[in-house]
Amino acid sequence: MRSLIDITDFTNEELYGLMDCALDIIANPEKYSEACKGKKLATLFFEPSTRTRLSFEAAMLELGGSVIGFSSASSSSAAKGESMADTAKVISCYADIIASRHPQDGANYVAAKNATVPVINAGDGMHCHPTQTLADLLTIYREKHTFDNLTVGLCGDLKYGRTVHSLIGALSRYKNVKLVLISPKELRIPEFVKTDIIEKFNMPYKEVFSLEEAIPELDVLYMTRIQRERFEDKDEYERLKNSYVLDVEKMKSAKSDMIVLHPLPRVNEISVKVDDDPRACYFKQCANGKYMRMALILKLLGEAKANPVKEDRTKGLEIVVNDTLCPNHRCISQSEQELEHAYKAVDRLKGLYRCLYCDSEVRL
Ligand code: CP
Repeated sequence: MRSLIDITDFTNEELYGLMDCALDIIANPEKYSEACKGKKLATLFFEPSTRTRLSFEAAMLELGGSVIGFSSASSSSAAKGESMADTAKVISCYADIIASRHPQDGANYVAAKNATVPVINAGDGMHCHPTQTLADLLTIYREKHTFDNLTVGLCGDLKYGRTVHSLIGALSRYKNVKLVLISPKELRIPEFVKTDIIEKFNMPYKEVFSLEEAIPELDVLYMTRIQRERFEDKDEYERLKNSYVLDVEKMKSAKSDMIVLHPLPRVNEISVKVDDDPRACYFKQCANGKYMRMALILKLLGEAKANPVKEDRTKGLEIVVNDTLCPNHRCISQSEQELEHAYKAVDRLKGLYRCLYCDSEVRL
């Protein structure tokens, strides 16, 4: 039995397998209409969502299954202080598969460790959002027919934007993908993505501020929202919130076959006038998300049936457990009852480790 916590939990072949399955679902929806008959999906949303929660629910319903769940922390027993571990154990008694979104980094990994059914990370804090990446990949595949040799611009809030972190993890698998990281210096890509993915896999990249200067060379432009809810300094948010607005004028200097993606919701970083441009693919991306989530539910339920023993995600990693507190105050390890503080070795000789839950750097 497997869960999906990080996009790199799946091999490249598995990601292509999901895309092939999604394309088959699109072509032959009737073939899948009873594929999950008798199965229940639980959607645990401790944080707001429109697309992810409702596309998961639509996905399960279109597979003939049913859905239970909650859409806010305040309507669950988390409001009374119940831990993530206990929540996962309890929901495993009621559902065959769980999709969970949580404001704390690493929370859904804790859920997966404690659940007895597959858990899907539907977004954890500012850390990862692997099922958004599934939607992004299918959209790029359908529009560009390849991932190799693309120049991909990622623009906006690259620090708090978890969708960007997961997408870079997936793009690192393909040949000669060049990244143009477009952000204000305060919202640059975090170190765990830069060193553990971009530099580790020798991805060509540059960090720039100007969208206008970057746009002519891009094959894919991935716009993101400045994540107001993650800022501790509200004045900083006010100062940065309008850093980028993609408008019709800027689209004039883009390639004729560049595609524009956005995980949505948008606030005002893409002018609504751009929606009429055939290169705007963000609403197609939403539709693709549902089909990829259908493929994912089928895959994880199928694997759980074939092998109910839970796979250990830390297999092969050197793990250290000690009293050191993770420096990231948004990390689940800071609040979850009696959760062990665990770190994976990055460079043992230099004493460099990363938190097992949130990937923050720790020196031990
Ligand atoms: N893209 C995305 O995660 O959207 P929601 O927050 O509406 O789920």
